[in-house]
Formats: sequence, structure tokens, C-alpha cells
Amino acid sequence: MRARALTHALLAVCLAVATAGAARRDWTGSAACGACHPKELAAWQATPHAQTRARFEASPEVRCLACHATGEAPAGPVIAVEVGCEACHGAGAAYAPDDVMRDKLLARALGLADLSSPKLRAALCATCHARGTREEAFDPTAPVHPVK
Ligand code: HEC
Ligand code: HEC
Ligand code: HEC
Ligand code: HEC
Repeated sequence: MRARALTHALLAVCLAVATAGAARRDWTGSAACGACHPKELAAWQATPHAQTRARFEASPEVRCLACHATGEAPAGPVIAVEVGCEACHGAGAAYAPDDVMRDKLLARALGLADLSSPKLRAALCATCHARGTREEAFDPTAPVHPVK
């Protein structure tokens, strides 16, 4: 137990250093997540988040990709023109291995976002849904990949 706590502490330190500049290799892509989470993948694929590439005829402007893509636009790498798994759950190369995923504390320390409360969930949505671009009010409790 103590060894594990120490490992977690060390990982948190490493993470603080590592996230200073996330690189392309820090991301796995939605297909890799979907290999172990096929239901979430299928549900997500039916949403505008997955299909936003179709909005853009040519190569989208980098300023649009801050919200219409996964990655770190405009300053850093663009991983895919989709609001992919990692746009909400965090860059996943470090936490995606099976043994890490089964250890929630470790997965969080390695970058899995904490979305466990309504407040945290709404804060995530607000990073992109900040200003209403539509007439309808935005509902931060709307399901994003319902698997029932
Ligand atoms: C090798 C298989 C595997 C891959 C790849 C994988 N996961 Fe997981 N994931 C798991 C397992 C196993 C669990 C734990 C399930 C459980 O405890 O019921 C889990 C749990 C989760 C959870 C729930 C965590 C919680 O707080 O309850 C989320 C969210 C998640 N994964 C997202 C992702 C994302 C995003 C990716 C891609 C970056 C990913 N997973 C890649 C196997 C995987
Ligand atoms: C701050 C985040 C953000 C940025 C930056 C952004 N968008 Fe969006 N965009 C959104 C969100 C969120 C929606 C979904 C709107 C909704 O349902 O409220 C959206 C929706 C859209 C739609 C569909 C609107 C509709 O009424 O159907 C288009 C087209 C679009 N964006 C184009 C762009 C273009 C082009 C750029 C760059 C010039 C851009 N967006 C930049 C967040 C953003
Ligand atoms: C728009 C943000 C968003 C995207 C995109 C997204 N998720 Fe999630 N995910 C969430 C939130 C928020 C939760 C917490 C449960 C909830 O509030 O619905 C969650 C929960 C989960 C869980 C826990 C079990 C469950 O279904 O509730 C898994 C596993 C998961 N997501 C995997 C994925 C995978 C795989 C992808 C990509 C195919 C993905 N997510 C894309 C926001 C997102
Ligand atoms: C990384 C940016 C980002 C995050 C985070 C994000 N979204 Fe989105 N969302 C978008 C963009 C961009 C669109 C528009 C996609 C399109 O239609 O091309 C969108 C569209 C939607 C739509 C469809 C709206 C419509 O009228 O077509 C819903 C619903 C939605 N988001 C819910 C959520 C919820 C709930 C959360 C938080 C749990 C969330 N989103 C987090 C960027 C994001």
C-alpha cells in the first residue's frame, strides 16, 4: 500500500513535468480508446462531436481547431479534426494501458480527467461551449455517448 502511494506521488511529480509540453506521442486517438470501449465509441460516432470534420470544406483554420478538434490548437499539435475521446478525457497514451486503466487513482495521475461531479463536467463543456453560438441554451448535462 505504501509503495503504491509513493508510486502515485512520484507519478504526479513526473506528470507535472511531462504536461509542460504535451507532444503528439502523448495522444492515442479515439480508435485506440474504442478498442476497449466499443459501446462508447459507437455512441460517440453518432454525435456532432465525432462528425465535425464535415463542417470544413478544406483544411480548417487553426483558430477553429481549438474547439473543433482534439489536441492543443492553436499553440500545439492537432491530433484529429474531431472532438474525440481525449478532447474530454485528456491525452491518453500514458493512462490507456489496461493495468493503468484499472487503477483509477493512477489513471488520474497520468492524465485521465476527473469528470465525476456535475461541476467538473460542466466546466469541461464550458471550455468550448463558452459562448452560445445558437439560439437554444446549452445544456451541460446532455449525454455525450449514452450507452444505457
Ligand atoms: C487496453 C484497454 C483500454 C484502453 C485502450 C482504454 N481503456 Fe479506458 N478503461 C479500461 C478499463 C479496463 C477500465 C476500467 C473499467 C472498470 O473499472 O469497470 C477503463 C476505464 C475508463 C474510464 C472510466 C474511469 C472512471 O473514472 O471510472 C474512462 C473515462 C476511460 N476508461 C476512458 C478511456 C479513454 C479516453 C481511452 C483512450 C485514451 C481509454 N479509456 C483507453 C480499458 C481501456
Ligand atoms: C470557443 C470554441 C469554438 C471555436 C474557437 C469555434 N467554434 Fe464552431 N462551434 C463551437 C461549438 C461549441 C459549436 C456547437 C454550437 C452549439 O450547438 O451551440 C460550434 C458550431 C459550429 C458550426 C455549426 C453551427 C450551426 O449553427 O450549425 C459551425 C459551422 C462552426 N462551429 C464553424 C466554426 C468555424 C469556421 C470556426 C473558426 C473560424 C469555429 N467554428 C470556431 C465552438 C467553437
Ligand atoms: C464531449 C466530451 C466527451 C467525449 C468526446 C467523450 N467522453 Fe467519455 N465521458 C464524458 C463524461 C462527461 C463522462 C462521465 C459520465 C457522464 O457524465 O456522462 C464520460 C464517461 C466515460 C466512460 C465511463 C463509462 C461511461 O460510459 O459513463 C468511458 C469508458 C468513456 N467516457 C469513454 C469514452 C470514449 C472511448 C470516448 C471516445 C470514443 C469518449 N468517452 C468521448 C465525456 C466525453
Ligand atoms: C473540445 C471542445 C468541446 C468540448 C470539451 C465539448 N464540446 Fe460539445 N461541441 C463542440 C463542438 C465544436 C461542437 C459542434 C460540432 C459540429 O456540429 O460540427 C459541439 C457540439 C455539441 C452538441 C451538439 C449541439 C448541436 O446543437 O448540434 C452537444 C449536445 C454537445 N456538444 C454537448 C457537449 C457537452 C454536454 C459537453 C461536456 C460534457 C461538451 N459538449 C464538451 C466542442 C466541444
